[in-house]
Amino acid sequence: DKANYRHFMAKEIHEQPEVVGHTLARYVDMASERISLPTELPFDFNDVQRISIAACGTASLAGFVAKYWFERFARLPVEVDVASEFRYREAPVRKGDLAIFISQSGETADTLAALRYAKAEGMHTLAVVNVPTSTIARESETVMPTLAGPEIGVASTKAFTCQLMTLAALAVAAGKARGVLSDADEAKLVHGLVEIPRLMTEALTHEHEIEKLARDIAKSKDVLYLGRGTSYPLALEGALKLKEISYIHAEGYAAGELKHGPIALIDETMPVVVIAPYDKVFDKTVSNMQEVAARGGRIILMTDAKGAEEATVDSMVTIVMPDMSAAFTPLVYAVPVQLLAYHTAVVMGTDVDQPRNLAKSVTVE
Ligand code: F6R
Repeated sequence: DKANYRHFMAKEIHEQPEVVGHTLARYVDMASERISLPTELPFDFNDVQRISIAACGTASLAGFVAKYWFERFARLPVEVDVASEFRYREAPVRKGDLAIFISQSGETADTLAALRYAKAEGMHTLAVVNVPTSTIARESETVMPTLAGPEIGVASTKAFTCQLMTLAALAVAAGKARGVLSDADEAKLVHGLVEIPRLMTEALTHEHEIEKLARDIAKSKDVLYLGRGTSYPLALEGALKLKEISYIHAEGYAAGELKHGPIALIDETMPVVVIAPYDKVFDKTVSNMQEVAARGGRIILMTDAKGAEEATVDSMVTIVMPDMSAAFTPLVYAVPVQLLAYHTAVVMGTDVDQPRNLAKSVTVE
């Protein structure tokens, strides 16, 4: 049931504060502001030397964000692969290390095959899945469910942000277990997570601005998305979302890669979406934006109030997100990224919930 929404995707975007809140409540003790995983993990994070993450599409991009979190909070090296590459490359892995599989449906053929490979190699397997009765959930040693509820729109939205919430909690738990994070660090990070649902609600209030921008994006043939740090995988997700539902060609790049190739594409016809909360690398991203502006490129900057004030670039539209803890910005910036893809697709008149050639669950490779 679409409630009062025109598409399931719109409904699912708007449900995010609620379902991300449910997922948060599963992994965080709200009263003490500590991580509290409902099941005891069958491994010790101190014995893990490397984490391998394998998943497909949007789920793999949630894994790519989580790489930054595990590396920062727990000083644990992480490799992220699309599941089809992980399985056929027969990646060398270490017995007793941790492999994480992320899937909304829990039935994706390549992700399941990657899970079976990791198991056969003697790795600990942990699944972040939305369907608790799925094959991937059944075959994994540990299951951390995402509580997104059924996702009907083919383009993943609420499952993605619930995956992020679950992985954020796990990364903080890993940092705590490995003694990288103190009690105070944990409390601060958990506090940042507790704020997310409210901040997502605030992000949703920008829908009208984004709807107007979408009319412009819909006239483009190509769109570039740029970001640094955790905003880089989100840039990849923005490009994936736009192409799959609006059929407009889009690419995501690490902002630092701009001058290594994609800058050749920039002209007046190419909008560049820059995802850049005000953080340590913001100034670097501003210089990338100046390079785009100097070539007549049009910029859509997703940032916060401080970023909007500091960015001095011509021909720019800003979407101002709420101020928040720098660690978890992808959860909130996912909202304008999804809304931009959604409204562009609506302008294009595509079948938003059932884009051509795509299936909700890819059970063949
Ligand atoms: C993109 C999208 C796909 C899925 C991918 C994995 O919006 O929905 O890229 O994320 O097919 O599916 P699951 O998560 O079911 O394994």
